[in-house]
Amino acid sequence: MEKIYTKYKETSISLTTDEIKKLFYIETYGCQMNVADSELVVSILNNSNFVHTEEIELADLIFINTCSIRENAEQRVRNRLQNFGVLKRQKPSLIIGILGCMAERLKEKLLEEEKLVDIIAGPDSYRSLPDLVREASEGEYGVNVLLSRDETYADISPVRLDKNGVSAFVTITRGCDNMCAFCVVPFTRGRERSRNPQTIIDEVKDLVRSGYKEVTLLGQNVDKYNWNSGELNFAGLLEKTATVSPDLRVRFSTSYPADITDEVIDVIARNENICKYIHLPVQSGSNNILEKMKRKYTSEYYLDRIKAIRAKIPDCSISTDIITGYCTETEDDHKQTLNLMEKVGFDFSYMFKYSERPNTYAQRNFPDDVPEDIKARRITEIIDLQNKLSLLSNDNDKGKIFKVLIEGISKKSNNQFFGRNSQNKVVVFSKSIYKIGDYVNVKIIKNSSATLLGEIVE
Ligand code: 5AD
Ligand code: SF4
Repeated sequence: MEKIYTKYKETSISLTTDEIKKLFYIETYGCQMNVADSELVVSILNNSNFVHTEEIELADLIFINTCSIRENAEQRVRNRLQNFGVLKRQKPSLIIGILGCMAERLKEKLLEEEKLVDIIAGPDSYRSLPDLVREASEGEYGVNVLLSRDETYADISPVRLDKNGVSAFVTITRGCDNMCAFCVVPFTRGRERSRNPQTIIDEVKDLVRSGYKEVTLLGQNVDKYNWNSGELNFAGLLEKTATVSPDLRVRFSTSYPADITDEVIDVIARNENICKYIHLPVQSGSNNILEKMKRKYTSEYYLDRIKAIRAKIPDCSISTDIITGYCTETEDDHKQTLNLMEKVGFDFSYMFKYSERPNTYAQRNFPDDVPEDIKARRITEIIDLQNKLSLLSNDNDKGKIFKVLIEGISKKSNNQFFGRNSQNKVVVFSKSIYKIGDYVNVKIIKNSSATLLGEIVE
């Protein structure tokens, strides 16, 4: 108790001892969307008699915002829960809540599987968290896994957890209607819905007023953004966001190859402050596999989109997601993926071995028939090729001058800053009179496949 009181004094929240609020701690796994959701959760709880703490030992409530995308993501969460078990044995009143995709996927089953869990809340039920905590405090389980067709948390101002004060996530859509055969997300995050644009722009304006220099518009498939049956599409929203301030960088994630339009490409091309970077997950280079994945494009269509991007935005960097070892994938399918990677010359990639997810179309219809050792060999080949491509791409930047937004101090040296250029590449350079949040021009003098090293030029 004494310790808690000290903490309040530190954060200068004036409370008398008999008004002590419950402290909650939150840990986030998975994608950027989950990071943004945790910021909503903090806001909802802060407005309801709870106080956020970054010190787990002080917490009365621990939340873990979870990911189900692959088996190992879930395993990581389960391992972490073991550590929470130790804390709960020390403090039996401790309440533990599972949020996010695992909560939604496993629902009440989690209560049986993980005995120390008190609360289960899916991605659309965060407004009910204060009630769920109340139920849990009264010795019941607090469970809400209802998915919604219209919840966008549009009116909630997220509490920014990343304290750099430079870049922030802004959610524009929730859910996904794509129903890719391998993917659990439509089941865990529900139907696609778009957030009221006025609330998006207001949030962005607030961020600018608070000194933020970069926003990333988030959605499972941002290209499907659609307000009021066509009144505003993603291209329109992107441009509206870019006009909030010329000093604000705008990024977005994730695009879907079949849905990214020429209009979106044009908007990126004509707005200096929209970053020249597109993350366009291809998943596979084989049409046979793409069809079995229920992706709505062919490799030819994908390459055509790349061509359209490069024609209008020559300095655009492009990254992708690749799944290897998907059901029935042959050596020839794998070669086609390597081939496509070479053709595009991705600047970077996120590469995964296929992980069968319960109840997905793939799990119900196709055997997970690529042996583990073959998946392992194929992913190594894919990673090796990507390293080569990333190195080529970075070699190509040597001597170029980039406008870099300073985001923080380099992990390797206190005397260096790191930031990113418009192309989303990390640039490291010596500190000078500048500070975090400033834009600087940096000339690239050295590079690896992962980083650009440079020096500030005036
Ligand atoms: N197995 C492996 N990777 C997956 N992804 C989605 N579902 C699976 C799965 N079952 C990858 C895709 C997606 C990224 C977010 O995660 O590449 O684009
Ligand atoms: Fe994010 Fe997908 Fe993981 Fe859910 S399953 S947390 S949406 S990456």
